[in-house]
Amino acid sequence: MCFLEKYVIKGGKPLKGEVTISGAKNAAVAIIPASLLVKGVCRIENMPHISDTDMLLTILKELGAKVRFIDNSTIDIDCTNVEFGNAPFDLMRKIRASYYLIGAMLGRFGKAKTTMPGGCNFGCRPIDQHIKGMEALGAEINVKNGFVYAAAPEGKLHGSFIYLDKVSVGATMNIILASVLATGRTIIENAAREPHIVDLANFLNSMGADVRGAGTDTIKVNGVESLHGGTYAIIPDQIEAGTYMVAAAATKGEVLIKNVIPKHLECISEKLRETGTIVQNFEDSVLVRASGNLRKVNIKTLPYPGFPTDMQPQMATLLCQAEGTSVITEGIYDNRFKYAAELNKMGANVNVEGKMAIIEGGHSLTGAPVMACDLRAGAAMVIAGLCANGETEIEDIHYIERGYEDFVEKLRRLGADICIAEYPDDTDKKDNVIAV
Ligand code: EPZ
Repeated sequence: MCFLEKYVIKGGKPLKGEVTISGAKNAAVAIIPASLLVKGVCRIENMPHISDTDMLLTILKELGAKVRFIDNSTIDIDCTNVEFGNAPFDLMRKIRASYYLIGAMLGRFGKAKTTMPGGCNFGCRPIDQHIKGMEALGAEINVKNGFVYAAAPEGKLHGSFIYLDKVSVGATMNIILASVLATGRTIIENAAREPHIVDLANFLNSMGADVRGAGTDTIKVNGVESLHGGTYAIIPDQIEAGTYMVAAAATKGEVLIKNVIPKHLECISEKLRETGTIVQNFEDSVLVRASGNLRKVNIKTLPYPGFPTDMQPQMATLLCQAEGTSVITEGIYDNRFKYAAELNKMGANVNVEGKMAIIEGGHSLTGAPVMACDLRAGAAMVIAGLCANGETEIEDIHYIERGYEDFVEKLRRLGADICIAEYPDDTDKKDNVIAV
């Protein structure tokens, strides 16, 4: 008999104390593949220890990279002797960020073979802009039988001008990866501006690349001959920090969230202030204190610096308790509201109409058995469980553990009554679950 794990949460306890934020998942899942471009040792600090990064490090080791853990959050990756081929496709299929291996392999080997990326089911998540960028750089791309085959006819890519039809984090980062060792200059217009894109550019530049303008919508990459080893520290995770900020407000607690860059949290902080929550910024921390009554707010998710889509489910949970009716409009994905049904099992009243969720406030939640539908929906269910009266069980926690390092330990240190329990796996072998 196989067993799976679930969270068991006894709600109603305000979170109080301090929590330290780990390195940014969405920076780390691009920086690990980026080390493929470096012939030398990359020492990466503040690496989050989560299953997404573990899987990517395993993929690199299968390609011949040497990976050494210096301590729990510092690793050395040496890709000097990596070889093309022998990639573990079964692992690639489980990771959304496997698409970064296309750009990194093309940059390193002049060719690539990866699986099509999966990704949590928010509706259609194509990679047409990734392909558009690679083809503009001179690669021939062929997508067949769930695999992506890419090759540069001259063995090396050349610089190009690329206008992204859609603001895409993944496509922006992938094109940067493919262009840093290309011949000549690449210009990416309508680029995404997320903090993790700046982090990837800073990592590559610290290894000898020439990437300029990251964080704006126009990024210029001057190709260089080769990259050398070096040391780099990943930025703190904006979404992990935001999750704890919302959890503090939702549980009517007071939490100091440490190791953050307040600038990256501006939109989240402002929205929380709009609900009446007190948010105080310090140099590398923010203090979140619940106010008396939560006010309703309306949110539209947008590319950075707009309100992040990855914080949308967490905010929905908070707004279930606000006075009045709030509306969340999802501006990035077709359907990122699957968690609404789970919240409604706990006594919420969330109605989804297309890309909008109408959240009737004033509902205190009651504990219930629920599912994590994807990474951030799962985090939202944890927040719901922490606020609810009674006990909540959350299954499918493998999603959550891909993006939150030491989630249970960090919450317990804040006073949460949460633990992990096993339950029999009475379903057929699950399909390969896909990380985001
Ligand atoms: C990254 O996904 C993140 N994942 C997501 O975080 C995040 O939600 C998303 O960026 C937006 O910020 C990783 O970094 C691993 P996009 P990505 O390309 O790159 C469409 C989390 O919770 N699009 O910016 O896949 C796409 O369908 C995860 O940490 C195309 O049409 O996002 C979407 O509607 C969830 N064609 C929009 O653009 C393309 O070629 C934005 O997608 C690419 C994207």
